[in-house]
Amino acid sequence: MDHDNGISNKSGNRPFQDVLRARASRRSVIAGGLATAATGILAPAAMADGWKDGGSGKKPYRPRGRNLIGFEPVPVEAGSGPEVSISSDYEYDVLIPWGDPLEPGGPSYDGDPDSRPSAKNQAEMIGIGHDGMWFFPYTKKRYVSNRAGMLCINHEFGTNPHVTGKAFPESLEDVRLSQHAHGVSVVAIAEWKGKWRQIRSRNSRRIHVNTPVAFSGPVAGSELLATPNGNIPLGTVNNCANGYTPWGTYLTCEENFNGYFGASNEDATWTPTEAQSRYGFSSNGFGYGWHLFDKRFDLSDADYRNEENRFGWIVEIDPWDATQTPVKRTAMGRFKHEGVAIVEGKDGRIAAYMGDDERFDYIYRFVSADDWKTMRAQGRSPLDEGTLYVAKFNEDGTGEWLPLTMDNPALSSFASQEEILTFARLAADAAGATPMDRPEWTTIGADGYAYCTLTNNSRRTEPGPANPLAPNPDGHIIRWKDSDDYTGSSFVWDIFLIAATTHDSEDAFGSPDGLWGDPDGRLFIETDGGQPLGLNDQMLVADINSGELRRLLTGVTDCEVTGLAVTPDRRTLFANLQHPGNGDPAATSFPAPTGSGRIPRDATLVIRRKDGGIVGS
Ligand code: FEO
Ligand code: CA
Ligand code: CA
Repeated sequence: MDHDNGISNKSGNRPFQDVLRARASRRSVIAGGLATAATGILAPAAMADGWKDGGSGKKPYRPRGRNLIGFEPVPVEAGSGPEVSISSDYEYDVLIPWGDPLEPGGPSYDGDPDSRPSAKNQAEMIGIGHDGMWFFPYTKKRYVSNRAGMLCINHEFGTNPHVTGKAFPESLEDVRLSQHAHGVSVVAIAEWKGKWRQIRSRNSRRIHVNTPVAFSGPVAGSELLATPNGNIPLGTVNNCANGYTPWGTYLTCEENFNGYFGASNEDATWTPTEAQSRYGFSSNGFGYGWHLFDKRFDLSDADYRNEENRFGWIVEIDPWDATQTPVKRTAMGRFKHEGVAIVEGKDGRIAAYMGDDERFDYIYRFVSADDWKTMRAQGRSPLDEGTLYVAKFNEDGTGEWLPLTMDNPALSSFASQEEILTFARLAADAAGATPMDRPEWTTIGADGYAYCTLTNNSRRTEPGPANPLAPNPDGHIIRWKDSDDYTGSSFVWDIFLIAATTHDSEDAFGSPDGLWGDPDGRLFIETDGGQPLGLNDQMLVADINSGELRRLLTGVTDCEVTGLAVTPDRRTLFANLQHPGNGDPAATSFPAPTGSGRIPRDATLVIRRKDGGIVGS
């Protein structure tokens, strides 16, 4: 969802465009203008001088020759309308649309506008708002399947009209239907005779807003997570992008959780605290109206004080154990988590890169306390112990990771580490982080760099001299490499791609969001927001070495393209179309035929090269 309606950050930290402009003004190489800026010409002095192999001691990344991207791109003129367009070298199929049964034989919904699912049945169906996901292949000893496994998929959001057919909930049943359409599906899928479908499995399950969850890490047990009512922690919501761990679990990220809370003002006139304001809470939220029938989401109900602190975390899910209680990992901080990219450093510790998607919010990194294998062997979670940092980008192409810890003098006003983590945005403000243009997905490229999409920022007011970043309606992609192989306190950075620079070309796009780097040096880019040249939202593939860019597919009218997962052999790619037609059958009935009158339904696309080659090639 392109949620772009507010600014919660009033900290006054120096915005990123100031830094970029200051750098650009000192570097004559930038005078070449936008065309050169498009592919990383902002390469900083620090990188050229000090960066050889990222400090890792490993061999530097070398691209695998030419023709990394060989497919025929989707032309601009084919990239709009109510149907999917895909490269002529590729084919796609549709999997698990909203309302499909979680398992064969279960309840289902086909988009009939005159009959909606019951809340009870929705809890056993695929949810709506398909977003981040990952495929966990079935394995047995040394065999790893490319044809069967568990797909964990986020259900980020679904508006009331889309899900319930009503502008506003009229009962608790309506609210429960909406809540059950959110969350995560863990669904067993397999390919048979060229077609992927759900299969029966004891591992399949739905996790939604009323599923019991647990807290772990420094904030677990804190009074900041306790309500006067004593209700147990339930649910996950606005599950946006995702991550996955080296030990085989799925991470789902809670983004715009504030929008589901409101204030009925029955007990008292509610006004937000400083912390609630910083997280964007308001009396009407995003108009879901849950708070009117479910007190848990009523900010003005004193019995449920702190309930809102239970959202905004990263949640770990075991795809292979449907009895596991999803765990919220508090050491990774509470903010509007877009996604998380995890990478192992040379000493075995893991680094987790995370974006906080709001205008002028930040990029974070969590580093585990010890090497993850040792921690796991000792029964400790690598996601429970470690240090949370926030990024500060300097003008000279370097940056610093600022620790969000009690021994950081800038955080002396915080009473405890629990408070720092629960109100990580406030801590990051105080630490002096660099406000960014809506950090969305993060990924690790084949060059060892972390990449992050900065989707857009319509409220930026100060233009930079070398590129049209103020306002920045089209977004860009930044990348960085830490000193000491993902765990050091500093980094070097540059701009990989500025979306506006593509607008005169066949590869025009805007508002990059979904992002995944493959091991060959490709970067898959998915968009969410108004596209140039009348294009629908789309997926493109970039070569991180050459900067070459090609359009692999465009979605249907008014959908977002998001979510990326591959089979281990990378012959099958899964991607999602979210909110096709914004729920309006007059725009599209996808995946039902156009003109059928069916409500369009979010769905996963199964994408393959016709010749069976590596996806993206
Ligand atoms: Fe859910 Fe920032 O996208
Ligand atoms: Ca977005
Ligand atoms: Ca997103």
